[in-house]
Amino acid sequence: MNSSFSKIVLITGASSGIGQATARRLAADGHHVVLGARRVDRLAALVAELQAAGHSAEYQELDVTDVDSVRGFVEAAHARHGRVDVLVNNAGVMPLSTVDALRIDEWNQMIDVNLRGTLHGVAAVLPLMRARREGHIVNIASTAAYRVDPTAAVYCATKYAVRALSEGLRQENQDVRITVVSPGYTQSELADHGGDPQVRAAVRAAAEQLAIPAAAVADGIGYAIAQPRNVDVNELVVRPTAQN
Ligand SMILES: NC(=O)c1ccc[n+]([C@@H]2O[C@H](COP(=O)([O-])OP(=O)(O)OC[C@H]3O[C@@H](n4cnc5c(N)ncnc54)[C@H](OP(=O)(O)O)[C@@H]3O)[C@@H](O)[C@H]2O)c1
Repeated sequence: MNSSFSKIVLITGASSGIGQATARRLAADGHHVVLGARRVDRLAALVAELQAAGHSAEYQELDVTDVDSVRGFVEAAHARHGRVDVLVNNAGVMPLSTVDALRIDEWNQMIDVNLRGTLHGVAAVLPLMRARREGHIVNIASTAAYRVDPTAAVYCATKYAVRALSEGLRQENQDVRITVVSPGYTQSELADHGGDPQVRAAVRAAAEQLAIPAAAVADGIGYAIAQPRNVDVNELVVRPTAQN
């Protein structure tokens, strides 16, 4: 079974960081990438870059917290190409703080983007993939899906949940491949938005010391996608060698 043919790959959160690097890697592998995020100016620039390099790419505005937006993103790609081979549920936010700070809006944002957004993606593609008895869902979790640290309780809760969801999905589906990719410190914009400013500064300092390029995570995603359809890479943890 050869699965190295060009696939239709949808990537959420493709406007920066790991999603952007994944778009570059998968487009270079010969896949057609469909990029989603809210900052469409970034997506347009990335699609232009990929097309100029001879690759195949398109984009659509996407807010993963809105189930209709996610459904529209998937349905438009499905209508254009007749199939969706892979969904990379990558969009995420990480505004960190201790629980006693009660930054409830930010808790809800993490639940809405990291967990509900992933569920919205699953809901949009799973019926299509089950009908074809083929497909691949790649959920981006984190090393925070394996270990809890202070200031990250809610973020970890969302990432543990993504991992649990993925394991349940895997057990329920014999034809659809399910992969969880869990990065450690990775160069991106993740620590640039929200959360306690002191925590944000500490995370950025640690990231400056340790972080691996987003392309290192994208390579793991590319590896999982390139496997034959009867081989499901279930979990990949990709972190800096020096991360404890
Ligand atoms: N960097 C790390 O150290 C690290 C470690 C472990 C796990 N991760 C995970 O990796 C994934 C990617 O993050 P990153 O590190 O690459 O951070 P990033 O550079 O901040 O990228 C996050 C992406 O998510 C998108 N996004 C946020 N809210 C969205 C929404 N409501 N709808 C659609 N897209 C949305 C952003 O696009 P717009 O703002 O344009 O919508 C952006 O493209 C996340 O799930 C994150 O939790 C990262």
